[in-house]
Amino acid sequence: MSLQQFPCIGFIGAGNMATALVGGLRAQGWPAKQLWLSDRSEEQLSAHSAHGLRTTTDNAELLEKADVVVLAVKPQVMAAVLKPLAKQMQARRPLIISIAAGIPIDALSRWLGAASVSDALPIVRAMPNTPSLVQAGATGLFASAAVNADGKNLVERVMGAVGLTLWVEQEDLIDAVTAVSGSGPAYFFHVMEAMIAAGVKLGLDEQDARALTLQTALGAAQMAITSDVGPAELRKRVTSPGGTTERALRVFNESDLIHIFETALKACANRGTELALELGAAD
Ligand SMILES: NC(=O)c1ccc[n+]([C@@H]2O[C@H](COP(=O)([O-])OP(=O)(O)OC[C@H]3O[C@@H](n4cnc5c(N)ncnc54)[C@H](OP(=O)(O)O)[C@@H]3O)[C@@H](O)[C@H]2O)c1
Repeated sequence: MSLQQFPCIGFIGAGNMATALVGGLRAQGWPAKQLWLSDRSEEQLSAHSAHGLRTTTDNAELLEKADVVVLAVKPQVMAAVLKPLAKQMQARRPLIISIAAGIPIDALSRWLGAASVSDALPIVRAMPNTPSLVQAGATGLFASAAVNADGKNLVERVMGAVGLTLWVEQEDLIDAVTAVSGSGPAYFFHVMEAMIAAGVKLGLDEQDARALTLQTALGAAQMAITSDVGPAELRKRVTSPGGTTERALRVFNESDLIHIFETALKACANRGTELALELGAAD
């Protein structure tokens, strides 16, 4: 792998996530000519080439140029995309980042033609989330044994272009990351929906209930991120004994909200484990 300051990064699949990542990398000054995208549709690529990025409909051409290959196609097509590239991948041995949900490293490795541990390519499995699309993502990362410290630093630069990055030490913890941050935006959206609906029932018009809810979510997140104390202490500080907030929190406690979240996140992580078995089963 080239040790130059801006190694060439190639994205296989030029959809939502690849677009978000190249946007983040460009915003950080990554040169356009060091960013390649491949996709099966010219249409998907035209906006990128108009911005000076290198594009191709031939994944093998991208692989010829890239020091880092980001696998950004849907999980269901991954085996079909990788198998024709196996020989070339083994010859070039780029650093590989898979952002596909649910596909274990051993399946990627197998599809890329590794017959033994010594053939194993440096692969990082990344679990980003949808706020990456607005450069406020959170990405969990797990590295295979073949990834060295320079490789890890480079992965942090790539995935860090769209938000926070965090390494886990065991691959199965990616299912926990999925349960917390991967699927997490949907839980917060659901809470927002519930608060907007409740505000409307209390007499606010929907637009006002929505504006108040969304700004409150943003404000609470900003406070929690910038504060020296944790969320539990922040909650206590806005909960006066005998006051309004305490009355609302009592209702949540009576419904055992903490247990509901624990059960929901366990269900999510279990589904992640099941999907990894299903998606990784192809030869
Ligand atoms: N979106 C998220 O927030 C998010 C979060 C976590 C993880 N991920 C993961 O990120 C990956 C990409 O997601 P996405 O939302 O960016 O998907 P997407 O918008 O559908 O992008 C995937 C792109 O790959 C193209 N493609 C399909 N087959 C190809 C091939 N053989 N060679 C090259 N390109 C090919 C697709 O073209 P067609 O449309 O013609 O099929 C599409 O343009 C997925 O594996 C997903 O699990 C996404």
